[in-house]
This record gives sequence, structure tokens and C-alpha cells, in this order.
Amino acid sequence: MKKIFTNSFLAFLILFLFLAFTPEGQKSPKLRSSYVVLGFNDLGMHCANKTFAKMCILPPYNNQFAHVIKVGDASNLPEVQPAGSGVYVTYEVPGNTYSVGKTDFWTYANTLFGVTLAPNIGLTGRGMTGTMHDTLNYFDAYGIPITPFTDANLVTEDPYQLTLLKAYDAGNNLLATTQNTIPVSNDISCVSSGCHSSEQDILNEHEYYPAFSSPPVFCATCHPDPALNMNSGSAGYFSKVIHQKHGSITNNCYKCHPGTNTQCLRGYMKIIGKTCTDCHGSVSNVGNTIASGRVPWVNEPKCGDCHDANHSENPGTLYKLSKGHGGLFCEACHNSTHAEVTSENANDNLQNLTLQGYTGPLKKCEVCHGYIPAGPGPHGYNPLGIRPVSEKIPNATEILPNYPNPCSFMTNIPYTIQEEGTVRIDVYDLSGNKITTLMNDRLKPGEYKAELYTGKLSSGTYICQLVTNGSTCQRKILVIK
Ligand code: HEC
Ligand code: HEC
Ligand code: HEC
Ligand code: HEC
Ligand code: HEC
Ligand code: HEC
Repeated sequence: MKKIFTNSFLAFLILFLFLAFTPEGQKSPKLRSSYVVLGFNDLGMHCANKTFAKMCILPPYNNQFAHVIKVGDASNLPEVQPAGSGVYVTYEVPGNTYSVGKTDFWTYANTLFGVTLAPNIGLTGRGMTGTMHDTLNYFDAYGIPITPFTDANLVTEDPYQLTLLKAYDAGNNLLATTQNTIPVSNDISCVSSGCHSSEQDILNEHEYYPAFSSPPVFCATCHPDPALNMNSGSAGYFSKVIHQKHGSITNNCYKCHPGTNTQCLRGYMKIIGKTCTDCHGSVSNVGNTIASGRVPWVNEPKCGDCHDANHSENPGTLYKLSKGHGGLFCEACHNSTHAEVTSENANDNLQNLTLQGYTGPLKKCEVCHGYIPAGPGPHGYNPLGIRPVSEKIPNATEILPNYPNPCSFMTNIPYTIQEEGTVRIDVYDLSGNKITTLMNDRLKPGEYKAELYTGKLSSGTYICQLVTNGSTCQRKILVIK
């Protein structure tokens, strides 16, 4: 009896120690004192087939990137690693440790790709955990063979799982960790949408090869597909034939792109009301522009189509490959296209929320600099919202009238802080549901301004609440559409 007790006590102790050192524990601020790691995915969604018995559109293949930054101080700028530093980064997806059986890819990999792959190892030789490759000022891991199924649930897709990245120095000391979305979905609904009766039916309908004799068929062997770097097929680009063929049938991108359940468009551009066709045009347009010279996956819409030159991609470069302030990828501060922070998905927002205390693009200078430099920061900004608009010490801490009011798309919310302290500003609806956090930081006395984007909110009254040093003030904001 005593022995059992001792054993279970030991087990409890080990469990306790284990929990104390799990990622949750590692998020404690003291680890962030001298290094930060920023993780990001190149695309807002990586789509893959689940079954490969009949056809392969895309294999399990996900890409993860990271910057490791040695935080600066008043006399040193932040240093982006690796630069010969010996720093290295490992990746894992807690709760998702294997892929064989979650897809039958490994049964058909040899037929489709002519390679023999060890179980759970993807097309680039990477598994579900590993060490990232370092190059220039970043780390990458191409071809992680993740599926949308966690170990705990083999039935329901979880398209927005979190990676855990750990940065170590050359002496194997843990420097920093982060968690960021590794989006993946099998939600390609050729059959489940009711459009095709089976995958065999799709093969049967292929006008030019009505009887593909030995499935699985790999579409990209004949239809060039830059996404897979397969460009030698002699038929039309895969993207051209698929969109031209379906353009007259549907304009619902979610019939094929993930998807009805996954809803891959979830970022700030979605929140302000943009839809796929606002940026890409119709399904026919996606196909027809290729017919008239657009290279699929290479010539895509641009942030700069709507934003000014100061907030655009590097010339002639995709967003996912463009870099901005400090030589950092745009995605390190903003996250990927279709998932720009603030995103509707909490996992997309987690990294910046953890690092700076509020969602949205990384803008808190101290996260990387360790203090507030005189500027210019990203896009030439001075620390807006953190530096006071006016440093005159106000008579009261209050929220001043917002303008415009009522508003439909956006409103400015000026406020004054009389005494230094941590200031938190949240916006609630009338039922008390929190809509967003506009500020959560230590501020000196002065007059400040917050901006609230209301594009996603329905008409009605909202409450903006400021809490600091134990006092609370509120103001009503009227949204009219
Ligand atoms: C063996 C070569 C080959 C393979 C493999 C192949 N295709 Fe094609 N496909 C062609 C050719 C040739 C055409 C006609 C020329 C063109 O439009 O590019 C064509 C045309 C098409 C078209 C437009 C014409 C139509 O059928 O209405 C679609 C859509 C299409 N293919 C889809 C697919 C899909 C999906 C796959 C994978 C399941 C696939 N193809 C695999 C050779 C191939
Ligand atoms: C606000 C504009 C915008 C909206 C809305 C939008 N996209 Fe995009 N899309 C882009 C941009 C910009 C790129 C190019 C990304 C790059 O340069 O790295 C892109 C690229 C893509 C790509 C190529 C792969 C990639 O992610 O780079 C696909 C596929 C795609 N979009 C599909 C969609 C679908 C489907 C929808 C709707 C569910 C959608 N897009 C909505 C702007 C948009
Ligand atoms: C009938 C299915 C289908 C529909 C509907 C569809 N797509 Fe696609 N789309 C695909 C497939 C399959 C690919 C992958 C092609 C490849 O691997 O090259 C693709 C790739 C793309 C790409 C990347 C390649 C390129 O041409 O630049 C973009 C962008 C894109 N789709 C946009 C859209 C948008 C926007 C819509 C809705 C207006 C849409 N698609 C509707 C099947 C579809
Ligand atoms: C179809 C037009 C369009 C495209 C393309 C587009 N945006 Fe926007 N974006 C807007 C509009 C409209 C707003 C809201 C007004 C504003 O702040 O300019 C906005 C707002 C934003 C904001 C919020 C600004 C703030 O002050 O909070 C960010 C960040 C942003 N966009 C990033 C991007 C990125 C990154 C891309 C490319 C991947 C992109 N946008 C592509 C139209 C677009
Ligand atoms: C070091 C972080 C950082 C990097 C790198 C960065 N941005 Fe930004 N970006 C920001 C911040 C901060 C804002 C302002 C958001 C705010 O005021 O709330 C912003 C705003 C934007 C906006 C919205 C502008 C508007 O009209 O309000 C766009 C678009 C944008 N960035 C695109 C890009 C592109 C494209 C790149 C890469 C070439 C990039 N950013 C690189 C931090 C960054
Ligand atoms: C995500 C990390 C990050 C954030 C957030 C950030 N910076 Fe930087 N900053 C850097 C890096 C990296 C460098 C480049 C250091 C080098 O050149 O060696 C840099 C360089 C600078 C420089 C030197 C001149 C230049 O542009 O190269 C200034 C000034 C600066 N940042 C101001 C700011 C201000 C102000 C803010 C807050 C509004 C800010 N930064 C936010 C990472 C960041």
C-alpha cells in the first residue's frame, strides 16, 4: 500500500515537473528578456488531398519560417540571427506527431512521385519534428508532411494547429519559444459538395483521357504546376484548365479551396469585408488571365493594389517573399496573406498577443529593440499609440469624443492619461462580449489616440472602456451601416 502510494506520488511529481516545463510554462516573460523568435507560414493555407488512390492534386507539404532576434537596448540595435551565431531552431506540432494513417499518401508516394519515403517523412525528407535550415537572416523548414488531424481526433479536421518553435544557442541553451499557426486542410470538396459523384467520376469526365487506365493520376505530370515546381507538362497550366473549366459552373471558391468548413480567408482583409473575388476576380478570370500570360502562383494580387507604396511588396516580389523594417519578412509582423493579423482566428493572433500584449501587426518597438527608439519604425512610423500625440499633462484620465461618430468603417478614439501606469482599452458590445483590445501597455501621462475598425461590426452601440491604476472610464460608440 505504502509502495503504491510512493509510486503514484512519484508519478504525480514527475507529471507536475513535466507540466511545469511544458510550452505553457515557457511562455513566461523572463525567457523573452534577450531573444525573440517570430514564426510564420508562407501561405494562409496549405491544401492537400487526404486520399491518393485515384488522384493527386497536392501532397502533404507545409512550410514554416522563423526569425530569431537578439533584443537590442539603448546602445545596440536588435540583431537578426543566424549571421554565424550558432543559433538554431527546432519545430514540432504538439499533439500532432505522426501522419501515416491520417492520409494514405505513403501508400502511393512511390507511384506518384517515384520516391521511396520512410513512414511520416515527407517529400523533402522532413518529418513532423526537426531542426530548421538556416540561411541569410532566417530559418526555414520546407515540406513538413502535416495533416489536419491531431493524434487525439482522427475524424474532425483541425486546420489551424499550432507549431512550437524553440530557439537555442550554440551551447544548447533555450533562448526563446513561440507558437504560430501551421494551416493545413483536406477540405477540397469536388465530391463532398455534390458536384462530382466520385473521384473516379472526375477521371471519367476528363475529356481528353476518358479512361485513365491506372490511377492514381497525378494532374501535374501533364498540367504544369509551379506550386509543385513541376513545369514540364505539355497540357495547359493546371490552374488555367481547372478554373476555365469551372468558371461557368460556380463562382464559389470554397467548392475547391478550403473550404466550406475551413474558411481559409480569415485575416484583417476578411474582417473589413473583402472577398476572394475582390482581389482575384471571378473563377473564369483566374483561368483566363493565365491564358493571356499570367503565370499562376507567380503573378498574384498585391497588397500594393490597394495600399500605398510605403505599405507594398518589394518591387516585382510576392508578398510572402518581401521584406520590410529591419530586413524582416512582412509576414513576421503581419502573418500570411488571407490571415493578416488581426485575424478572426485566435491562433493567428497568438504570437503577437503574447509578445506585445495586443493583437495586430507587431508594432511595440520594445519587443525587438528593448526600448523605444526615436524612430523611424516600420513604414516610417513613430511609435503611434505608445508615444503621446501631445505630452502636455492632462487634467484627467478620460476617453474624449470619438470621431467620426456615428461611424461605419473606422473611428478615432482620443484619450488622455494623467498618471503613468498600465492602460488597457477594450471594446465591448452591449451584451458584454469583448470585441477587441486596443491598448494594453504602460503609458506616460499625455494625450493619445486609438483607432477602431468597425467594418466587421453590425450596426449598434458599443462600449469602449479604459482601465488604469484602478479607475475605469467608458464611452459609447455608435456604428451605423
Ligand atoms: C496524361 C496527361 C494528363 C493528365 C495526367 C491530366 N490531364 Fe487534364 N488534360 C490533358 C490534356 C492534353 C488536356 C487538353 C488540353 C488542355 O486543355 O490543356 C487536358 C484538359 C483538362 C481540362 C480541361 C478540359 C476538360 O476536361 O474539360 C481539365 C479541367 C483537366 N484537364 C483536369 C485534369 C485533372 C483534374 C487532372 C488530374 C486528375 C488531369 N487533368 C490530369 C492532359 C492530362
Ligand atoms: C485582400 C485581397 C485578397 C483576398 C480577399 C483573397 N486573396 Fe488570395 N491572394 C491575395 C494576395 C495578395 C496573394 C499573393 C500572396 C503573395 O504574394 O505571397 C494571394 C494568393 C492566393 C493564392 C496563391 C497561394 C498563396 O496563398 O499565395 C491562392 C490559391 C489564393 N490567393 C486564393 C484565394 C481564395 C480562394 C480566396 C477567398 C477564399 C482569396 N484568395 C482571397 C489576396 C487576396
Ligand atoms: C473547381 C475547383 C476550383 C474553384 C471553384 C476555384 N479554384 Fe482556384 N484552384 C483550384 C485548384 C485545384 C488549384 C491548384 C492549381 C495548382 O496546383 O496549380 C487552384 C489554384 C488557385 C490559385 C493559385 C494559382 C494561380 O492561378 O495563381 C488561385 C489564385 C486561385 N486558385 C484562386 C481562386 C479563386 C479566387 C477562386 C474563386 C473566385 C477559385 N480559385 C475557385 C481549384 C479551384
Ligand atoms: C482589395 C484591396 C486590399 C488589398 C489587396 C489589401 N488590403 Fe489591407 N486594407 C484594405 C483596406 C480598405 C483597409 C482599411 C483601410 C486602411 O487602413 O487603409 C486595409 C487595412 C489593412 C491593415 C490595417 C491597417 C491598420 O491601420 O490597422 C493592414 C495591416 C493591412 N490592410 C494589411 C494588408 C496586407 C499585408 C495586404 C497584402 C497581403 C493587404 N492589406 C492587401 C484593402 C486591401
Ligand atoms: C517590423 C514589423 C513590420 C514589418 C516587417 C512590416 N510591417 Fe507593415 N505594418 C507594421 C505596423 C506596426 C503597421 C501599422 C499598424 C498600426 O498602425 O496599427 C503596419 C501597417 C501595414 C499596412 C497597413 C497600412 C495602412 O494603410 O494602414 C500594410 C498594407 C502593410 N503594413 C504592409 C506591409 C508589407 C507589404 C510589408 C513587407 C514589405 C510590411 N508591411 C512589413 C509592421 C510591419
Ligand atoms: C519585429 C522586430 C522589430 C520591431 C517590432 C521594431 N523594430 Fe526597429 N529594427 C528591427 C531590426 C531587426 C532592425 C535592424 C537592425 C540592424 O540594421 O542591424 C531595426 C532597426 C531600426 C532602426 C534603425 C534604422 C533602420 O531603419 O534600420 C530604427 C530607428 C528602428 N528600428 C525603430 C523602430 C521603432 C520606432 C519601432 C516601434 C514603432 C521599431 N523599430 C519596431 C526590428 C524591429
